[in-house]
Amino acid sequence: MTLSLIVARSAAGQEPVSFAPPDWDAEVRLASPADRNPDPHIVEVDLTARVAEVAVAPDRRVQAWTYDGGLPGPLIRATAGDRLIVHFRNQLPQPTTVHWHGVRVPIGMDGVPGISQPEVKPGESFVYDFVVRDPGLFWYHPHVMSAAQVGFGLYGALLVEDPAERTTVGVADEVTLVLSDLAADNRGVLEPADSGGSAGMVFGREGAYVLVNGKVRPRIRARAGAPQRWRVVNAAKSRYFYLDLEAQPMQQIGGDGGLQEYAVTRDLVLVAPGERVDLVVTPRGAPGTSLTLRSLLYNRGYGSTEFRVPEDLLTVDLSDAPPLADRPAAVVSRALAPPAAEGAKPLELVLTLPPIDEQGHNEFRVNDVPFWKARPYRAAVGETQLWTVRNDTEWDHPFHLHGFFFTVLDEKNQPVRPLAWKDTVNIPMKTTVRLLVSFDERPGEWMFHCHILDHADGGLMGTVLVGDGEPSAHVHTHTP
Ligand code: C2O
Ligand code: CU
Repeated sequence: MTLSLIVARSAAGQEPVSFAPPDWDAEVRLASPADRNPDPHIVEVDLTARVAEVAVAPDRRVQAWTYDGGLPGPLIRATAGDRLIVHFRNQLPQPTTVHWHGVRVPIGMDGVPGISQPEVKPGESFVYDFVVRDPGLFWYHPHVMSAAQVGFGLYGALLVEDPAERTTVGVADEVTLVLSDLAADNRGVLEPADSGGSAGMVFGREGAYVLVNGKVRPRIRARAGAPQRWRVVNAAKSRYFYLDLEAQPMQQIGGDGGLQEYAVTRDLVLVAPGERVDLVVTPRGAPGTSLTLRSLLYNRGYGSTEFRVPEDLLTVDLSDAPPLADRPAAVVSRALAPPAAEGAKPLELVLTLPPIDEQGHNEFRVNDVPFWKARPYRAAVGETQLWTVRNDTEWDHPFHLHGFFFTVLDEKNQPVRPLAWKDTVNIPMKTTVRLLVSFDERPGEWMFHCHILDHADGGLMGTVLVGDGEPSAHVHTHTP
C-alpha cells in the first residue's frame, strides 16, 4: 500500500532539487504569522495595523504604518481551498479596512467601507473569514484613504499555493518579492499624502525610497545557471516597475490569477501597480560575480521619464559553485477556459481628465460622470460581460476590478495568448483595452478603479452591482 503510493507520487513528477546557497534569501525572507488553528484546512491568524519604526536601509529608519510592525506586512500562506480567518485589529490613528486584492471573496469580506463593510475604527476589530478558492499570489491593503495608507506602508502578500506546482513548475528555490516605495524625509518622517496638491494627484506620487520586501537594494544569493522562482507583486501606490536583469531573459509563468496557459520568455517585465508576475529566473554569470535587478524607465505619462534614471532594486550575488549546466526550461501549462465573447453583454467605459475648472478643481471621470455622482453599472449573477475601456487621458491607468478575474481580448475580441486570469491590467495612454468578465454566483456591489491610488482618489473609480440588490447609499461618499 505504502509502496504503491510512493510509486504513484514519483510518477507524477520529481520533487525539485534546491540549488541555492544556504540562507540565499535571508535578507528578503518575509515573516509569516502563526496559524493558531490545528485544522490543516483552516489558516487562522492575527493581523494588527499599527504605526511602527522600520529600517528601510542600515542608516534609515522610518515611522511607517504597518501590519504587525513590519514593512511589508507578513506573508500569509494558505493552500487553495483553505478557509482563511484573519482577526484584524486597528491600532492606527485613523479608520481603515483590509481589502484582499484579487481574491474571490464574498462581498461582505471585500473591505470597502460604505459599500461592503463598515470602517474599522481606531481600537476596533473585524474578523475576515473566507475560502481562498484560487492558487496565486494575492495581496492585502486598506481601502480607506488608500493613497495615503498604502503609501505609508500598509500592504502585504497572500500566497495561495497549489501543492502540485512543486512538481509541475519544479523549482525548489522560491521567494515572494513585494515591490513598493515610501516617501519620507531624511529624519524618517513620512511625507504627507497630499503633498504636491492636484498636480501630485494627476501624476501619481512616487516615494523616493524604492523597496524590495521593505528594504533599499537588498541582496539575494544564487548559483549561476540554477533557476529560482520569483513571485512578484507591485504594492506601490503609483510607481511602475519595469524589470530588467541585465538583459538576461526571464521566463514568465503566471500573473494575477496563478499560472498562465504557457510560459513565455521576456527580456523586460512590466509590473503596473496592483499586478503580480510569476517568474522563473535563471541568473547567468561567472561564479563570485553579481547581477543587478533594475527597474528601467517606463513612460506612463509626463514626468515619469524626464530627468529620471533607472532604479537598482536587488543585487543577485552568484556563489562560488560552478555554473549549473543548462537545464531544460520549466514547461508550464494550464488549461484555462475563458467564457465565450459571443453574446457577452457589452459595457463601454471612457476614462477622461477634463480640463481644470475655474476653482482649480481637477478630477478624473468615467463616462463623463464624476465619482461622487456615479451610479453603479449592473450585471446579472452568472452573466458574462465584455468591457471596452478607452483611456482618453495622457496617462496610463492600471485598471483593477474587485472580486472577479477577467481575460484580456484583442481587437478581434479573441483572447490574448497565453491565456491568463487578470484582475489588474495596464491601459496605456490613449489606448483601449477589452476585458471579458464572467460574474459568478457572488452578488454585491464591486469596485473597479485605477490602481494608481492618487488617480482613484482623484475620481477614477466606479462600481458594478451584481445581482438585483439595492445600490449602496453611500457610494458617493467613499474614499478609495
Ligand atoms: Cu488593490 Cu480596490 O484595490
Ligand atoms: Cu490612473
